[in-house]
Amino acid sequence: MRGATVKAAAAAALIAAGVVGAKASITFNNAITGEVLNLEDAGPEGKDTEAFKKFIETGENIYNGNADCLAKGEQSYLAMCSGCHGQKAEGKLGPGLNDSYWTYPSGKTDKGFFEIIFGGASGMMGPMYGAMNVDDMLLTMAWVRHLYKDKPEDAGEWLTDELKANFKPYDGKTPTPKPSANAPESCKID
Ligand code: HEC
Repeated sequence: MRGATVKAAAAAALIAAGVVGAKASITFNNAITGEVLNLEDAGPEGKDTEAFKKFIETGENIYNGNADCLAKGEQSYLAMCSGCHGQKAEGKLGPGLNDSYWTYPSGKTDKGFFEIIFGGASGMMGPMYGAMNVDDMLLTMAWVRHLYKDKPEDAGEWLTDELKANFKPYDGKTPTPKPSANAPESCKID
């Protein structure tokens, strides 16, 4: 009886830490060296969200096209990326991320995009796993996809047929919607 209670408590602690469910079905690789990325290098924060769990199983970012999650992604992008990539991802010290041209063509998939953020690329594009949590990476990616300004047909794999149906290239004028009352917990902002 006591043993079972201890075990249950230990399992609960693991779930709370987001360890359970963070087992990746797909392998992520460094964009330059191809080395396998170790998701354990990032802290436990954000690993228990539905989006992250789904992502490491399928490579699909369910935040894409979710208006409720744009505001948090924007915040994160402005804090972590815009200094180098520009306010609207138009490019600055680092390349533009809002068009159909990619130095690393794998960035046209969300798996590839995540690999570049998590593991870094060359020069000033350092790995982000120590600086931001993995769920924020997915939110940031969805925001960057939202900023895409070129033709939908040139966007790449991330723009699925389902998303394409409602997709409008970014116009820079529409204000970012605030998360609604039904927003996933991970998309709420203070
Ligand atoms: C200190 C500056 C700096 C910061 C901060 C930074 N980047 Fe970069 N980023 C760069 C540079 C420089 C490159 C070009 C590196 C290369 O070509 O290998 C780059 C390249 C990239 C690429 C590859 C683009 C392509 O065309 O293939 C992506 C994607 C990217 N960054 C996303 C991000 C995101 C998202 C963030 C925020 C979480 C971020 N970066 C933060 C400087 C930065």
